[in-house]
Amino acid sequence: MALSRVWMSLFLIVFTLTGSICEEESESKEFVVTLDHSNFTDFVAKHKFIVVEFYAPWCGHCKKLAPEYEKAAAILSNNDPPVVLAKVDSNEEKNKPLASEYEIQGFPTLKILRYGGSVVQDYKGPREADGIVTYLKKQSGPASNEIKSPEDATSVIDDNKILVVGIFPEFSGEQFDNFTTLAERLRADYEFGHTLDAKLLPRGDASVAGPIVRLFKPFDEPFVDFKDFDVDTLVKSVEETSIPTVTIFNNDPKNHPFVIKFFNSPNSKAMLFLNFSSEHHDAFRSKYHDVAEQFKGKGLSFLIGDVDASHGAFQYFGIKDNQVPLIIIQTNDGKKYLKPNVETDQIAAWVKDFTDGNVQPYKKSEPIPEANNEPVKVVVADNLQDMVFNSGKNILLEFYAPWCGHCKKLAPILDEVAVSFESDPDVIIAKIDATANDIPNETFDVKGYPTLYFKTASGNILPYEGNRTKEDMIDFIRKNRAVVAEPESRKEEL
Ligand SMILES: *[C@@H]1O[C@H](CO)[C@@H](O)[C@H](O)[C@H]1NC(C)=O
Ligand SMILES: *[C@@H]1O[C@H](CO)[C@@H](O)[C@H](O)[C@H]1NC(C)=O
Ligand SMILES: *[C@@H]1O[C@H](CO)[C@@H](O)[C@H](O)[C@H]1NC(C)=O
Ligand SMILES: *[C@@H]1O[C@H](CO)[C@@H](O)[C@H](O)[C@H]1NC(C)=O
Ligand SMILES: *[C@@H]1O[C@H](CO)[C@@H](O)[C@H](O)[C@H]1NC(C)=O
Repeated sequence: MALSRVWMSLFLIVFTLTGSICEEESESKEFVVTLDHSNFTDFVAKHKFIVVEFYAPWCGHCKKLAPEYEKAAAILSNNDPPVVLAKVDSNEEKNKPLASEYEIQGFPTLKILRYGGSVVQDYKGPREADGIVTYLKKQSGPASNEIKSPEDATSVIDDNKILVVGIFPEFSGEQFDNFTTLAERLRADYEFGHTLDAKLLPRGDASVAGPIVRLFKPFDEPFVDFKDFDVDTLVKSVEETSIPTVTIFNNDPKNHPFVIKFFNSPNSKAMLFLNFSSEHHDAFRSKYHDVAEQFKGKGLSFLIGDVDASHGAFQYFGIKDNQVPLIIIQTNDGKKYLKPNVETDQIAAWVKDFTDGNVQPYKKSEPIPEANNEPVKVVVADNLQDMVFNSGKNILLEFYAPWCGHCKKLAPILDEVAVSFESDPDVIIAKIDATANDIPNETFDVKGYPTLYFKTASGNILPYEGNRTKEDMIDFIRKNRAVVAEPESRKEEL
């Protein structure tokens, strides 16, 4: 989950916020209800449906949302029945347990709480007033609406989204109840309808009487029917069918909900990146689609991405524009497999090689520096093994990020430490850009920058947690260094 969040944020700005900046909150009456740790539970318990914004006063996106949220609250207070919008200042020390109870990881986060708080759902709607109102009217109404006419059907079935319709001979019985449960469970993600007459629907066998569930979708086959009414099976069928054979990633926001699904899938992820404006695009797309069909149900999901929209992903994977068209597969243990400059007729064979275990993982690395003459040596993923693990020396290694202020502060100090050991062939001071090189995380636990590790000549690996002063670092190295094995004794070992 955490991993998929990282990936997603590299691909998408998930919520594009609109609205005016920092309006004065000086309206006479506030419609948004303020809640805190002392009254949250009681207040929520009294409501069948309530929306809560977890925010922090310093957060820019929260400030942008505030006037829109207030406007929506004013409009929804006149809804029948009224819909209540509330907010919790999650930065307030006493409210922090509340925020962690609801697993709030960023601000603002909106949650929909149903039935006195017993059902919690993520808010997945827009962030401007009209959009909030429309989304919440739908969410607070019935989970599924009856389709009574062809007009009803055309108003809910369109080319951008999925619609799940239950067709029934009558609106009662166990199948109907199970369908209703399904709609309740998945209402945040899909729209639902139910009907007594399949002839009203634009696609599929019009003569069925049901019970049957028909899913309309904007990609691949235009509809799919399900007949197994076990609730869990229905949930699974809807979720699986609503992932396109090939997910499209470009700058079109209509595709983004599907990109999110792609990243949330437990499968390994195959991603083909190419220039959608180039003349080979169609050929690649159709070939890739065939391959995706061929590997359906084998633990792989497929995405095709436009280079124009993929700068974040390229940086993350350490891949370059001149390597496209390329396929990269990432498995859930974080390993990556790369086929740069792929041709259409190589795709199927390479993916098969991958599934057969015949492709070596790809490592993100900067090029090995040709000259490495500065006091602080440069380590990259491709020479890490040689310089750190196989050199048999004592090495202090800094993991840094180019943008990190503490790293910049440390740089001249590290330089001085390096200079002071310059005449000592057994000690190396080195640095690695941890954003541009894959780090063996089973050895080095790099959670922040800078992180420092010391590998002794005898192979011990110690984190350096001392003060980042020249004296302390030199002292640490002197105390912990091991004697470098003599070439003779190495011969004896062989
Ligand atoms: C909850 O408590 C806070 C702090 O005392 C107060 O500002 C707020 O109005 C209360 N909310 C309700 C709904 O009582
Ligand atoms: C309805 O769902 C329940 C629980 O998932 C299941 O046990 C039952 O068999 C389902 N009913 C039908 C008719 O499929
Ligand atoms: C994609 O192809 C078009 C047309 O050939 C070209 O104009 C554009 O610069 C290319 N974009 C990238 C990112 O290479
Ligand atoms: C290393 O990273 C991968 C992917 O990010 C993760 O699955 C794995 O558990 C990590 N290993 C350790 C020892 O943290
Ligand atoms: C770091 O420096 C502070 C103050 O100079 C000192 O109190 C502390 O013990 C030092 N820590 C280590 C690990 O040497």
